[in-house]
Amino acid sequence: MTRQLYIETVGCQMNILDSEMVVAALRKQGYTLASGAEDADVILFNTCSVRQHAEDKVYSALGKLRHLKETHPDKIIGVMGCMAQKDQQLVIDRAKIVDLVVGPGQLHRIGELLDRVESERRPQLALSLDRTAGARARIARSHETFDPLRDPEMRPNPYQAYLRIQIGCDKFCTYCVVPMTRGPEQGRAPQDIVAEARTLADQGCLEITLLGQTVNSYQHRTGATTTRLADLLLQLHEIESIKRLKFVTNYPNDMTDSLLEAVRDLPKCSPYLHVPLQSGSNQVLRRMKRGYTVEQYRDMLERIRATIPGAAVSSDFIVGFCGETELDFEQTVALVRWARFKNSFIFKYSERPGTKAANRLPDDIPYAVKQRRNNELLAVQSTISQAENQAFIGRDVDVLVEGPSKRGAKQPADSASLQLMGRTHCDRIVVFEGPSPWVGRVLPIHIHAATPHTLIGTPVLAEAGA
Ligand code: 5AD
Ligand code: SF4
Repeated sequence: MTRQLYIETVGCQMNILDSEMVVAALRKQGYTLASGAEDADVILFNTCSVRQHAEDKVYSALGKLRHLKETHPDKIIGVMGCMAQKDQQLVIDRAKIVDLVVGPGQLHRIGELLDRVESERRPQLALSLDRTAGARARIARSHETFDPLRDPEMRPNPYQAYLRIQIGCDKFCTYCVVPMTRGPEQGRAPQDIVAEARTLADQGCLEITLLGQTVNSYQHRTGATTTRLADLLLQLHEIESIKRLKFVTNYPNDMTDSLLEAVRDLPKCSPYLHVPLQSGSNQVLRRMKRGYTVEQYRDMLERIRATIPGAAVSSDFIVGFCGETELDFEQTVALVRWARFKNSFIFKYSERPGTKAANRLPDDIPYAVKQRRNNELLAVQSTISQAENQAFIGRDVDVLVEGPSKRGAKQPADSASLQLMGRTHCDRIVVFEGPSPWVGRVLPIHIHAATPHTLIGTPVLAEAGA
């Protein structure tokens, strides 16, 4: 019997990858994808806990399904991902209509659990161990995510894929819930990573983005040998049909010279590094327990710029963290002006239960102040992004064509020409006109205009790739 599955995903790249894998596993069990919750037998939410807002959205979506569940009690509603691991039984108690709660480290069990919900007619929970539950090895094992065979149809386009190289996080920044929800840091075995990359390449994948919470801290020991990210990049670089390699997210302290040299020397490695700074104030960084000072971050950025000419660097910031003064914030603004990031993701601090900040530091910055600082920083970054993008005007860049742009998606797919989007090697978004068979190719595009987020261009040769 085929069953219809509907899945909604919020959160980071890890979640997108987890959803891809869950769908692939359930398709093997005979599920097909439904276009909406109404048509589905199983409705899954892959959730995020990093900020309160992301959780509120899921609880509100669950609230909207209450009527559907009451009129169709056979429909199975599941919550997976970080909120499942964090809230556990509370998800069931609060939402009332949830049959299944699965943490990110237990997703390999989802097929079996769905069958059990049907046969036992009661909610099922599958969770990893808490970080205080005993021996590290046992806790780590309970968080081991599953990475089964890949299903290219599950990706937005078959030319790009995420590949998890690391699970969990051990940095314990005071604001962050991830070390609790995704467990201890573990590097996957290099031979498994390379085998998965080869499978992806065989499926026609051109670009692989390696994922880890602190991806550049990756290491894996076998006997006396330690494999680090630079070694892994070297191995992956040999896979012929892979054209581009990226990796996110980096931890400033682990940005070693040998990694930067690998990025410089391996042409397939994108000259793009996402290295979150979080704050430009040493006092705030100390309270966040980030483990570096502003001066150390600046040195790191200078090393990046000296080693990889033209590297694009992006960052994350949290504004309104506990005790952040106007002066602290001004220091962040000054650093953003100096650093000239390609772009920055800016977040208002959101207190997360169970973190050190929630336990020890009052969330004392009013929402309106967080909002104002967020807007101010965004405006500063936006001016810089615009200027940095403007510098591309008149240049030809190689673009991996990902698919129709937002506008292109509304045009008929068989149009002679529609608006396509892709990315430069340094991760800048480019839009241009072209036929849909160009999707999946790397083409030279001449840039003639720029906004803070987008380069606008024309194909260098109208017949390019035709
Ligand atoms: N509040 C706001 N932003 C947060 N982030 C992580 N935890 C929180 C929090 N409690 C941000 C950080 C991180 C990004 C993924 O999310 O900037 O780099
Ligand atoms: Fe969270 Fe810090 Fe780990 Fe990033 S490095 S996942 S911010 S604890």
